[in-house]
This record gives sequence, structure tokens and C-alpha cells, in this order.
Amino acid sequence: MTRLALSPRILDHLDFGTPSAERDIGRGLEKCFVESAAYQRVHSGAKTIVLGNRGAGKSAIFQVIAKRERIAGSNVIELSPDDYSYELLSSALAAERAGSWAKHGAYAAAWKYLIYVLVMKEIARKGMRLTKNGGADIHRYIRDNHATSQLGSISLLISYLKRLEGIKIGPLEAGVRTRELDRLYKLEEIHNLLPSLRNVLERRRVVVFVDELDRGWDSSEDAQAFVSGLFQACVSINGLHRNLRVYVSLRQELYDDIPALYEDAQKHRDLLERIHWSEESLLELIAKRIRYSAQERGYDSEMLRRIPDRACWSAVFAGDSDRFGESSFGYMMERTLYRPREIIQFCTEVLETARGRASGLPLPFASITRAEHGYSAERAKDIAAEYRYQYPGLMSVFDVFRGRSHTFARDDLELLCLALATGEIPTRNSHSWLTYCEPDALIEILWQVGFLTAQPIGDEVAHRTGNGAFFGAHQVQHLNLAAVQRFQVHPMFRAYLGLEDPASRIHS
Ligand SMILES: Nc1ncnc2c1ncn2[C@@H]1O[C@H](COP(=O)(O)OP(=O)(O)OP(=O)(O)O)[C@@H](O)[C@H]1O
Ligand SMILES: [Mg+2]
Repeated sequence: MTRLALSPRILDHLDFGTPSAERDIGRGLEKCFVESAAYQRVHSGAKTIVLGNRGAGKSAIFQVIAKRERIAGSNVIELSPDDYSYELLSSALAAERAGSWAKHGAYAAAWKYLIYVLVMKEIARKGMRLTKNGGADIHRYIRDNHATSQLGSISLLISYLKRLEGIKIGPLEAGVRTRELDRLYKLEEIHNLLPSLRNVLERRRVVVFVDELDRGWDSSEDAQAFVSGLFQACVSINGLHRNLRVYVSLRQELYDDIPALYEDAQKHRDLLERIHWSEESLLELIAKRIRYSAQERGYDSEMLRRIPDRACWSAVFAGDSDRFGESSFGYMMERTLYRPREIIQFCTEVLETARGRASGLPLPFASITRAEHGYSAERAKDIAAEYRYQYPGLMSVFDVFRGRSHTFARDDLELLCLALATGEIPTRNSHSWLTYCEPDALIEILWQVGFLTAQPIGDEVAHRTGNGAFFGAHQVQHLNLAAVQRFQVHPMFRAYLGLEDPASRIHS
């Protein structure tokens, strides 16, 4: 097998990147980027709505496409997290029941208005020769209506919603109200500019990215309408011209948390791209980063390209010699939910723990187990935080497993779940969802969030993969959980919960 030997000085310069794509883009993300099939479909525009768990790589895809579009001369608009605040929306607008106004439709209209105005502002920027391209009316509209306005994106959206709200719940008589509403829903203020916009787009390309919608997510009526309205607007605007493209990303659980979205799913299902990773693609991701670091320190790029991904990994992380060379890659991968951020964090943590102790590469297996507790604790906290709106207090449910066995027969697990639901085993802040939660339902939740793995019996998966193995929701799409008889706590959580003593694996 081809081997790669890296000199000890690489240890000081090895860099697995930062945990988020926004910061990674300045540190070589593009050079280490894994161009998955998902990326290809998004890049080609076949898919414009990207769904994925935290740290799955939604922003990475957007950052790389944005960079490439800029290089190709397109105008790029990025709506960043500071631009939306769900609390502000809720406090600024009347509740739906107060005014019996359909918020989803109102938000869709407001989003369309906002995005079209931002696009027109972008192409009417100083120095752009719109008159020649037949966009003089756009120029005039922006100059007369938005030139002096310092309103941020969210304020522009709220001001449009306020106009709708004013008519819906204001003191107007019915006929006037219908006419006014119709004008606002049809975006009459800008509607006549769309043919000109189409003309301009023949020669100009504008790409809009709406990312990180989950920051500050509070699951409120307004937050839900905000997102479902955006989906509608995205579908509609993408139909205007091939050179105007709006991309939206959303966390998978938020998508599942918005009934209006899956009720309306047939409208956008064909545009959804769900990000999934496999062990091989994550190995490729780390190998690319190892090659990049080595290349930066003078290693020949042609030679590095010929080294297989596995050999790159083994040049940095040794197997466990006390366990017949158990693969360090398999060990670390088993402690993830197959998300790039996790493997990047784990590798970085191992590297940092080893620096100062190890004198060269590859790092001994013991440095992995040494770093494991910190990584495991971080991940448990992150997962609990990720689901804090759906399942508040999840961390205290995880903590109940502390010190127990990591493998459960179904009956024992159901008893434990029952004790949790009845409050016999107390937990903190979790009554909103845990009280009266059926044991089966609780098992399903713990499986979905990644805390439990399940051993399928007698079904297709077990047959294909050999018996005995336990699988998590990140590995199998469909599993008849009701038939499963044995469960395990996912290895990622075990060091934190003291279910496996990593110290026993540390060899001096
Ligand atoms: N295709 C890829 N190639 C290389 N690195 C990637 C890829 N996808 C993601 N990464 C890296 O994984 C990490 C997490 O990715 P990213 O920040 O895009 O996740 P995210 O889905 O946007 O998460 P969040 O929901 O927290 O915003 C980043 O360091 C990013 O650079
Ligand atoms: Mg992101």
C-alpha cells in the first residue's frame, strides 16, 4: 500500500480548518472543498433550497458558490444573520388571531418585495450602465424610493408587512380593503419593473443567498411564517429569469418543525437538496486538508495527489497497536453523526492535545482517547442546544444515562423512558414535551437526535450489513424502530457520560 511519511515539522502547521464555513472560506476552504453530488446539483441551479443538520456544510456550499460566482463576474447578495431577528418580528407585528390575517401569504409577498428591491438596488448601483441595457426605469425607481433610505433588509421587510397588516386589521371598509390588499400582494409598486429587470438580466447575473435562518430561531408564529414565506418567494423569484437565482438554506429540524412547509411541500419538493455524508466522503474531506497543509509546507502537490485518502489519514493518526491495529479512522468516525464539523473538531482537538507531547507524526492512538472526553462533552452540549426549542432540557435527559450500561434491552429502556415521562426520575425544564411522552415516542426522539443507535433485527438492513451492528438515524434512512429489541447510547456521548472509560485505553 502507498504510504505517506510526514516530517515532524508538519505537526506544527497542520490545520483542519475552523468549525464554520464563514471563517473557513478565508483559510483555504475552496482548495479543500469536497465537490459532492449535492454541491453539483445546487451549483447547477437544479436545487435551490439546501437542507441539512448543523455543521453538515450548508454554508460551505453557499460560500464556495458565492466565491465562484463573484469570480465569474456575477453580482452576489448575501443576507446575513444580523439581518433577521425573530423577536423583532414578533414584537413589531400583531398576532395572526388578533387580525385574522394570513401571515404566510403576507410574508411571501414581503420577501418577494425585499429580494426584488435588493436585486434592483444592486444592479442600479453607481457606475452601472443601466440606461444602455434598458433599465432606466429601475434606476429611477431606486433613486426615488430607496436611494436615501438607510433601512436594513429586515426593516424593509417589516415595513412592507406593516402596510399589509395596516390594511388587514385597520378600519377600512371591505371593498377598499380588498383592492388595497390585492395591490400589495401583487407587488404593484414594482410589478411593472419586472419586464425591465428581465431585460437587464439577459446580460447580468445576480445570485442571492439566504443562510443561517436558524440563528435566534424561536419557533414563534412569525418565525414560521418568515421561513415558509421565504420558501414561496424563492420558488416564485427563481421563475423570473435563469440569471436571477435565490438560494435558501435551512436546518433539517426547523423544516420538520414548520407544518406550513410540509403541507405546501409539493410546491418546492423538487427544489430541495438534503445534505448527507458517508464515511468515504468525510475521509476525503480530511485527506484534502492534510494534503493542503503538507503542500503549504513544500510537499510536492503531484506526489500528494497520488496518495490515497486512507494513506493521508494514516500519516497523521496511527491505529491502535494494542488492539490489533484498530483503525483510528473507524474509531473517530464511529463517534460522529457523519457531519463535517464533527470530524473537523475531533481531529483538531486530537491535534491540540498531542502538540507538545508528541514528537512527530503519526500521532499515537492514545492522543485520540485523551482528546475524546472534551470532544464528547462539547458534542453532547451542542446537540442539546441544537434541539432546545423542540426538546428543551434535553441535556438533563442525556444525563440520566450517566453511569448506566451503554446497551439496553428494549424492555429496560422503555422502563427508563416511563420513569422519565412520569417524573419519577426528575429532569430539568423538559415538561413541555417529556410529560406523558409514551416510551416509544421518547425512544424515537432519542434516536432521531442521534443519542441512541438501534440494532435492526430480521430486516433488510441487518441482512445486508451483517448482524450485530447498531445504526443511528444518520446511517439508515428507514428503520422499523418498533421492532428493534436492542439499543445503545451512541459512542459520541459515552465518554462524557462515563459509559466507557477512555482512560483504560490510554497507553503511556
Ligand atoms: N464540502 C465540503 N468540503 C470541505 N469542507 C466542508 C464541506 N462542507 C462543510 N465543510 C466544513 O465543515 C464545517 C461545517 O460546515 P458549515 O459551516 O458549512 O455547516 P452548516 O451546515 O452551515 O452549519 P450551521 O447549521 O451551524 O450553520 C466547516 O468548517 C466547513 O468548512
Ligand atoms: Mg451555516
